[in-house]
Amino acid sequence: MTEAKLILDNKEYTFPTFKGSEGEVAFDISKLRAQSGAITYDHGYGNTGSCKSAITFIDGDKGILRYRGYPIEELAGKKPFGQVAYLLIHGELPNDEQARKWRNSFTENSLPHESLLKFFDRFPVTAHPMNILASMISAMSSYYPYDSEDEDHINLNILRLLGQVKSLAAFSYKKSVGQPFVYPLSGFSYAANFLRMMFAEPMEEYQVPVVAEKALDVLLTLHADHEQNCSTSTVRMVGSSQANLYASISAGVNALWGPLHGGANQAVLEMLEKIAADGHDYKKYVEMAKDKDSSFRLMGFGHRVYKSYDPRAALLRKMCDEVLEEMGVQDPLLDIAKALEDVALTDDYFLERNLYPNVDFYSGIMYRAMGIPTDMFTVLFAMGRMPGWIAHWLEMRADPDGRIHRPRQIFTGHPERHLEG
Ligand code: ACO
Repeated sequence: MTEAKLILDNKEYTFPTFKGSEGEVAFDISKLRAQSGAITYDHGYGNTGSCKSAITFIDGDKGILRYRGYPIEELAGKKPFGQVAYLLIHGELPNDEQARKWRNSFTENSLPHESLLKFFDRFPVTAHPMNILASMISAMSSYYPYDSEDEDHINLNILRLLGQVKSLAAFSYKKSVGQPFVYPLSGFSYAANFLRMMFAEPMEEYQVPVVAEKALDVLLTLHADHEQNCSTSTVRMVGSSQANLYASISAGVNALWGPLHGGANQAVLEMLEKIAADGHDYKKYVEMAKDKDSSFRLMGFGHRVYKSYDPRAALLRKMCDEVLEEMGVQDPLLDIAKALEDVALTDDYFLERNLYPNVDFYSGIMYRAMGIPTDMFTVLFAMGRMPGWIAHWLEMRADPDGRIHRPRQIFTGHPERHLEG
């Protein structure tokens, strides 16, 4: 297939088609409006390819997720998150020397500017850590202005962002519990450094639990990229105006915060807690989710792209049992989650709509077992997604066909009218 034809008002228009490397077909309609005067309407962009990308491949029908060609199952837990970040950003896995340098530069750049930390005092104690994180990342562009034409400057700022996001995230938690900040230390993995900064206290030695370090590493990798989702598209949209890296990523953090996106991991846990408090009557919640007169949805179920089991959820479901057992944690919420899943996977409503558990369904239970408070869950998602956002921002910037993103609309408002008299 080399072209697609459109007949509009008896006039025929021809558009080129092309294929992606996995065989998916796209019609190039970039000349549609110029040639025919018409535009497309694709509510929620479910059928629109907004860019060409070589970073992540998803086949939602088959439950496939690959970063730079590698299946997620071959990366999660087998390559450290730092190396997965390198893969997403640079296109290849690092060799030993590159991995060593990359890891060291993360740590060297993980100390936030001391003046930036004063912002923490200005947030109310009730501030959500996602809001704090987005604000801090946005403020970083005032502390680290850079020449956007200079690749070395860009690379340094990428390292600062990757290194400091975990420090800022942990500091926002420390602030909320009234404890002093714990600064990053060299010699620790990304996950272990974060856990230290979260949980070490001045009065006693803190040993990072190996099981928690490993689990967090996998969780970060599973969240590291997911092609053109809401937050990544936001990063590309903002970046397309040539806004700087920090401004673009900060916008992505805000997009991720919403409960229909990354905020779902917090919403899942809150839903499970509510069901537990409501006598464990999970069937009532399944019925509510099916009721068209109720706005309630089963959080952690459904996905725009996956119409089969989310491969990340499949990995997490398995890992969840192992991690909780190794940590000696018995969580009644896990039983509710499994019961909900069992009902949903056999119920016609969910089967007909291809609603399966997504990545957020089990991640919260694991974070909870590690002692991470609920309102930090989405922050951990943001930490994991950082390399993906950066990779997309870089790819967008390097695109020779790149132009500012500017969708059209179908105006449905009042036709022209005039003031009387
Ligand atoms: N519970 C009950 N019904 C649902 C759910 C759910 N979680 N998700 C979708 N549906 C139903 C819708 O009501 C709709 O039914 P209808 O055809 O009878 O009207 C149908 O399934 C299709 O739903 P859409 O909203 O059109 O699907 P969309 O692709 O737009 O939304 C989304 C995907 C936002 C993830 C949705 O499934 C949802 O709200 N899930 C719960 C929130 C969640 O878990 N978000 C995390 C997503 S993963 C991530 O961002 C990392």
